[in-house]
Amino acid sequence: MAQKNVAVFISGKGSNLEAILKKRELSYLDCNIPFVVSSRKDAKGLQIAKDHHIQTYVVNHRCFSSRHLYEEKLLELTKKHSIDIIVLAGFMKILSSHFMHHFTGPILNIHPALLPAFPGLNAQKRALEYGVKFAGCTVHLVTDNVDAGPIFAQEIIPVFNDDSEESLSLRILEREHILLPEVLKIVIDGNYEIMGRRVLIYDDNN
Ligand code: GAR
Repeated sequence: MAQKNVAVFISGKGSNLEAILKKRELSYLDCNIPFVVSSRKDAKGLQIAKDHHIQTYVVNHRCFSSRHLYEEKLLELTKKHSIDIIVLAGFMKILSSHFMHHFTGPILNIHPALLPAFPGLNAQKRALEYGVKFAGCTVHLVTDNVDAGPIFAQEIIPVFNDDSEESLSLRILEREHILLPEVLKIVIDGNYEIMGRRVLIYDDNN
């Protein structure tokens, strides 16, 4: 079977991108990564992509007169590179239903909270302030509703008495680096089925 083409969308540090690239280099992920696109030109993750010889693009919404045109540019890149799967790895822009209507492959997102708790921005800070005893991360399918698509996988991270936003975020991030490549592998291999809101995951033997 032909290798799947995976595009990674980023906005910042790119540590999840790096985790994916490393797993690919170890042959854990069998896919092409034709490009990485960043919503910001100062995203550190762009250098990570370049270091791994991946083509990079910066597509900043401010350079477009409408969201429609901005998303058309992203869609153009996905078409040009025959992208099958998109991974939002710390991508801080919301994609509209227009984008999802035209890109029909799976779009995965990693979120630093146990959804449906704490969707949106500053999830770790809000979880800490709320006083939860368990935080975590979620990999889900992107749909029209922000951070509300069917859930592929979650990891629970205990909150300690002396946690700060930074320490909690770091512990969550370490788990993200394991969880996101694991889910991406499932999606590349097609070992899942969506039943309403539920994602059924199969191992290679069934
Ligand atoms: C990660 O913690 C990711 O879960 C979060 O941004 C960080 C990106 O880190 N994403 C969101 O908050 C999306 N709503 P990275 O750039 O080092 O991968």
